[in-house]
Amino acid sequence: MADPRPRVWVSQPLFDDVVERLGQYFDLDMTAEVTRHTPSQLAARLAGADGALITLNERIGAAEIANAPRLRAIANVGVGYNNLDVDALSAAGILASNTPDVLTETTADLGFALLMAAARRITESERWLREGQWGQWSFRTMLGADIHGSTLGILGMGRIGQGIARRGALGFGMRVLYHNRSRLPEATEAEVGATYVDLDTLLAQADHLVLVLPYSAASHHIIDAAALAKMKPGATLVNIARGGIVDELALADALANGRLAAAGLDVFDGEPTVRPELLALRNVVLTPHIGSASQATRRAMVQLAVDNLTAALDKGPHAGRPPSAINADAVHAARAGAAFVGAKKTDDAKR
Ligand code: GLV
Repeated sequence: MADPRPRVWVSQPLFDDVVERLGQYFDLDMTAEVTRHTPSQLAARLAGADGALITLNERIGAAEIANAPRLRAIANVGVGYNNLDVDALSAAGILASNTPDVLTETTADLGFALLMAAARRITESERWLREGQWGQWSFRTMLGADIHGSTLGILGMGRIGQGIARRGALGFGMRVLYHNRSRLPEATEAEVGATYVDLDTLLAQADHLVLVLPYSAASHHIIDAAALAKMKPGATLVNIARGGIVDELALADALANGRLAAAGLDVFDGEPTVRPELLALRNVVLTPHIGSASQATRRAMVQLAVDNLTAALDKGPHAGRPPSAINADAVHAARAGAAFVGAKKTDDAKR
């Protein structure tokens, strides 16, 4: 009997017309409603799957894959992948992938939108107007901070950080400083108009600081009370990376006591829950993790994840070579090791 077609689990409703392209090669198990899967639900869905198309809301580690012997590929619809325990996936020979590049410019747009909304008090102004307070207008109503000609600091200078640098330098005549684990080549620095500085200098000199670095143990609470205290009085902070990068209670304090003028946050520690200390503040703009949420970009992300999954399960034009695999080398090593152990067991049995 021919092998049954591989099975793919799709964790959330995405764009059906794009996802259904997987149907050419695989049997699809599609989740019809937006669902917050518990760890045991995740384990149950993955147990019978060869591949999975998942979003940032699904956290997958050793426990979730422990009973998934057929699972060979996980395609994350998102560029950040701190929801995946990549070491556990690699050890199990599961190829993980993400969706870089296609969301760079859209996410940089949102970073800039949050920066402008926070610095120029746009959402606060709108609330004030809707509350019928315009009659209280004075010449000094809703004074904010200038964007043009100011100093923009960027922490994390990957593709999205570079997109924000370009917008600041070329569009708004900003002086752009950045800090990153590794310095960019000089030609790239010149192209995006940014100057490398150490973290303390970045904190001390930025009028507006945008966080765009990946979340990891090393970046957990990198912006804590001590870092906030080093920032310019009256500065703006924008976080479009991951909530855990910022100590949110320390940030709420700095915003409440006027040390920072404003913040724009698209990501939160423990989202979708947002701390009451942040919700209570008027000088913070809050958005529900919509960095890449344009029609075109969200569709492109799903298409790239579909391509990644198809290739990781050895089908389609890129069979065996997913366009954006995260752990290809580690998986090849783990699979080679498993094949070696398997062959050795067979040899031993023959003796
Ligand atoms: C969004 O935060 C992403 O990582 O794609």
